[in-house]
Amino acid sequence: MTKTSLLTTATALLMAIALDTAQAGPAQKAVLEHFAALAKNADTGFQGFSAERGKKLFFDQHSGGKPETPSCTTCHGTDPTKSGRTRAGKEIKPMALSRTPERFSDLKKVEKWFRRNCRNVMGRECTPLEKGDFITFMANQ
Ligand code: HEC
Repeated sequence: MTKTSLLTTATALLMAIALDTAQAGPAQKAVLEHFAALAKNADTGFQGFSAERGKKLFFDQHSGGKPETPSCTTCHGTDPTKSGRTRAGKEIKPMALSRTPERFSDLKKVEKWFRRNCRNVMGRECTPLEKGDFITFMANQ
């Protein structure tokens, strides 16, 4: 292997690790591991979480939920590094882990809000895969 290709491989490896864990501390990693275990149980083809899928989940216009909240962005805004607003106008701190480091660290809180928000937006609960994808996306913002 040449020096350059060795360096390229090492960089790619580092980037892959960085993508998984970017801003995530031990508490967020534990939450992600919890969802990974559930996702593996639900699907033997589970190959890890995807920030790209999480991004789509966040930005997509969904149907099946309440007409006044078709998207996560309805409340969380279109820039995860900025504050959002509830329907009643109350500020919601940024979802990006880089801006709000305590995000996704408390499984009880995480589950409570996924349950409520996924039902509101999609008319169903999010799957463990969707939850892990979403957190992975936000951990890289
Ligand atoms: C009706 C407004 C609204 C919509 C729509 C909404 N959220 Fe939220 N979300 C909130 C509020 C309010 C909180 C709690 C306040 C906070 O954590 O700052 C919250 C918190 C969360 C949390 C907890 C984060 C943490 O700190 O652990 C997650 C996860 C979450 N939302 C995911 C989603 C997802 C995924 C969608 C889209 C499917 C979505 N939300 C759509 C209002 C909304």
